[in-house]
Amino acid sequence: MTEFEQWLARATAETEAVIDAYLPPEEGHQKTVLAAMNYSIKAGGKRLRPLFLSEVYRMFGGTGREAEPFMAAIEMIHTFSLIHDDLPCMDNDRLRRGRPTVWVAYGYDMAVLAGDGLAIYAFETAAKAFSMTSRTEQVARCIELLAQKSGIYGMIGGQTADVELTGKALTKEQLDFIYRLKTGALLEAPMMIGALLAGASEEQVRTVERMASCVGYAFQIQDDILDLTASQEMLGKPVFSDEKNQKTTYVSLYGMEQARRDVKEMSAEAVGLLELLPGEHENLRQLIEMLVTRAK
Ligand code: IPE
Ligand code: IPE
Ligand code: MG
Ligand code: MG
Ligand code: MG
Repeated sequence: MTEFEQWLARATAETEAVIDAYLPPEEGHQKTVLAAMNYSIKAGGKRLRPLFLSEVYRMFGGTGREAEPFMAAIEMIHTFSLIHDDLPCMDNDRLRRGRPTVWVAYGYDMAVLAGDGLAIYAFETAAKAFSMTSRTEQVARCIELLAQKSGIYGMIGGQTADVELTGKALTKEQLDFIYRLKTGALLEAPMMIGALLAGASEEQVRTVERMASCVGYAFQIQDDILDLTASQEMLGKPVFSDEKNQKTTYVSLYGMEQARRDVKEMSAEAVGLLELLPGEHENLRQLIEMLVTRAK
């Protein structure tokens, strides 16, 4: 294993432990929804968003523990977005993170509620950071940011256009809007939160936002490429989902060759922005570069 691979394995395991510590116990009359929430979040996944959050926090010199509730919160919001994305009324997919999707395992009703439950519990979790630092103003700002990037001006806004325009030919401007919101926003939030909690300047936070936006865009294009070129075993989710749903994707609009080129270009742009920032960031650079060549 390279030094980076060792770091990634260690950091992912630490992230798992943080997420685990904030999951609700499965008890009480509502335990079915709690079980459905935990089923999806414990199924794994790459944990990229909390990883980015903690690594940006560390890069800017953060040493406290107040990033931890936010790490769990962003993974809860991401998982909520996946549970609802897979519903029959949305992408209608039956496999996620190598397991039957929540609506298949627990029913449509519980899947809607599990998504709602994670979305709201994410904020209850993030609010725990107030008692973990004296810099409560930053915590408040991060909670606002988490809401903005998850909601109607972020992920939910992007999913709305994605779903509504399914089966239609998209303009480049519409595709751009969808990718920046449905995927980009949930990468911008954790990286900006990591920077804010560690005390980065306004200008640095803006650079982090631009960097994360490039990472998010490249990430979604690669997701589209993998939908056409990878296997279900490798991805842990169905392939040809976009074709099945007649989605216009970056690949269908620009062609495979340009899609592959643009993933590399946007990722290089992200690394260029990263190099403007202070602090040790070798692992972050390699993580961004790895996403271009990722196979899952
Ligand atoms: C999948 O995200 C949804 C997209 C935004 C493309 P990930 O590929 O990060 O999913 P997990 O968390 O690893 O399952
Ligand atoms: C991901 O888009 C958007 C979300 C916010 C969940 P996709 O619909 O392409 O994601 P996958 O391929 O199902 O993971
Ligand atoms: Mg979708
Ligand atoms: Mg989908
Ligand atoms: Mg996809």
